[in-house]
Formats: sequence, C-alpha cells, structure tokens
Amino acid sequence: RYKMKMFKRGLVLCMFALMSAAVLAQDKEYIVNGTEWLDTEGNVINAHGGGMLKVGEYYYWIGENRRDGVFVSCYRSKDLMNWEFRGHLLTRDSHAELDKANIERPKVVYNKKTGKYVMWMHYEYGGNYDKARAAVAWSDDIEKPFTYVKSFRPFDNMSRDCTLYRDSDGTAYFLSAARENYDLILYKLTDDYLDVKEQLLTLWPGGHREAPAIVKRGKYYFLMTSGCTGWAPNQGKYAYAKSLTGPWSELKNIGDNVTFDTQSTFIVPVEGKKQTSYLYIGDRWDGRRYFNSKYIFFPLSFHHDTTKELHNVEKVKIDVKAGKIN
Ligand code: DGJ
Repeated sequence: RYKMKMFKRGLVLCMFALMSAAVLAQDKEYIVNGTEWLDTEGNVINAHGGGMLKVGEYYYWIGENRRDGVFVSCYRSKDLMNWEFRGHLLTRDSHAELDKANIERPKVVYNKKTGKYVMWMHYEYGGNYDKARAAVAWSDDIEKPFTYVKSFRPFDNMSRDCTLYRDSDGTAYFLSAARENYDLILYKLTDDYLDVKEQLLTLWPGGHREAPAIVKRGKYYFLMTSGCTGWAPNQGKYAYAKSLTGPWSELKNIGDNVTFDTQSTFIVPVEGKKQTSYLYIGDRWDGRRYFNSKYIFFPLSFHHDTTKELHNVEKVKIDVKAGKIN
C-alpha cells in the first residue's frame, strides 16, 4: 500500500511538472505592460535601457542585465512577445576596465562591410557618474560574447545617455548626452563602426535631454528624448528632420507629463508584408529597486507625416507578419 501511495504521489508530481512546462511553453498572444516579463524558460527578462535589431526572422533584444557581474544580455523572438534568452554578451570578466564598471543603454548595429555586430554603450566606473564615457565592443555572432574595445570621451566630450543608428546607406551614427547632459551631440562613426570619425552637430544646446531613440519613417527621421530627472519619469519630447544633420524641428511633447510613466530607450519598426508599425520601447524604472523596473511596449502612431503619438495601452498584441500593433 505504501508503494502504491508513493507511486500515486509521483504520478501527481509528474503531471504537475508537465502542466507547468506546458504553461511555460505556451506562447503569449499579447503582453501586459507594467507586469513582470518572463522569458521562455520562466526567468525574469534582464534587458533594461536596451535596443533591438532584426537578424533573419528574429528580433534581438539586447539590454542591461546588472545581475551577478553580467552587464549586457541577449534575447530573441520571432513575434516580439515571446523572448528566448540567448546569452550574456558583456560581463565583468570581458575586460580589465570592466571590473567595477557600470554599463548603461547598450545598443547594437550590424556592419555589413566587416560582418561584425558593434555595440556602443554608456560607461561609468566605481559607482560614480563622473567618467561619462562611451564604450565600444564587437562580435562576429550576435548571440556570443562581445570583444570589448575601449571606453573614451568622443572628441573629449562627456558622453552619457546614448543611442546608435545605422542609416540605410550603411553610415552609422552615435548620439549622446554631453556637457553634464546639457547637450546632445551627434557623431558619425568610422566605416568599421568601432570609433567616431566626425563630430557633426549639437542638438538643442542647453536643452538638457537624455534617453535618445531614433527611427526613420518615410522622409523623416524622428528623435525621441526625455528630460533629465534621474530615474523619475518626465515629459518625453520628439523632433523630426529630413536629415540627421538637420535642420531639426522644435521639440514637441509626446505622451503625458511623465510619458505614461516611462523613459524612452528604443523604437522598433515592425515591417509587415503590407504595412509598417512602430513600437516604442520604454523603461518604467524603479529607482530604489532597479530590478523591479519594468519594460513598456507602446504603439506609436503618426499623422500628417510629422506628428507622432504615443498610446498608453495596458495590453499589446503584435502581429509581425501584418506589421500591426494593437
Ligand atoms: C536616467 C538615464 O536615462 C538612465 O539611463 C540612468 O542613467 C539614470 N538616469 C540614472 O539616474
């Protein structure tokens, strides 16, 4: 009788394990903003201040991890809703300069000429924010550890919040907050994307903007930014231009006065067969408990070519084939 009892108990446990696995394996059909997001293995996703790029049929999401000496982690998804963990790209052990570093807002683009994925990020050291440097790393495989190159101040400018943008002609640009975050400076990168080639433009001198995200739609480039209030959300603003080097429009408000409790980090064009939609990736930071910070995906819409609107939705359903976000 004891054996029977243990057998039944084992059977129940087995069924429970199988059912949990089935629940985990089930694809999400939509995502719920403001909740904890798990990857396909059931672990919390660590990709704060991140960016995305598409490689083949996968969207890659690369962002800040900050746990256990890991700086940057990589996830992939075919539908932008179910994310599979693929590996850690940069850790404390990647380079001597990283032993006590703080890495923020990593962004990756692919260089067609060299066949390398190149990452740019904000580098700090020893718990302060006074280094204000950019850092660069590269890898032949987007899912494998990156080779760290260096940290530096581009043309001697301070460099904190940043983004990276590869234009359709293959030229890549780095944009970062300089002069104690008062200015945003745009740089052209060298052909291999591993260094800055030219300091192009200071956007809104004294404007005090950070968290930049660039996207191109039709004839216009759009740049979204936040104000500078630490981890607390503030009024997001955007501007548009026909060329990255300007002239840029005035900054216009987007979302409410706290950008629906988010800070911008990236904008993903979701190119379907018939149409393209734009997905806003924001961080809902928890400044006191960093790991309680949430990711927020909002649909962006455009009117009359240059007006951009952010939609504060709780649930997001993305149809990558159709290029639709609801
Ligand atoms: C706002 C920035 O956008 C974040 O990346 C981070 O640096 C926090 N400030 C730190 O206060």
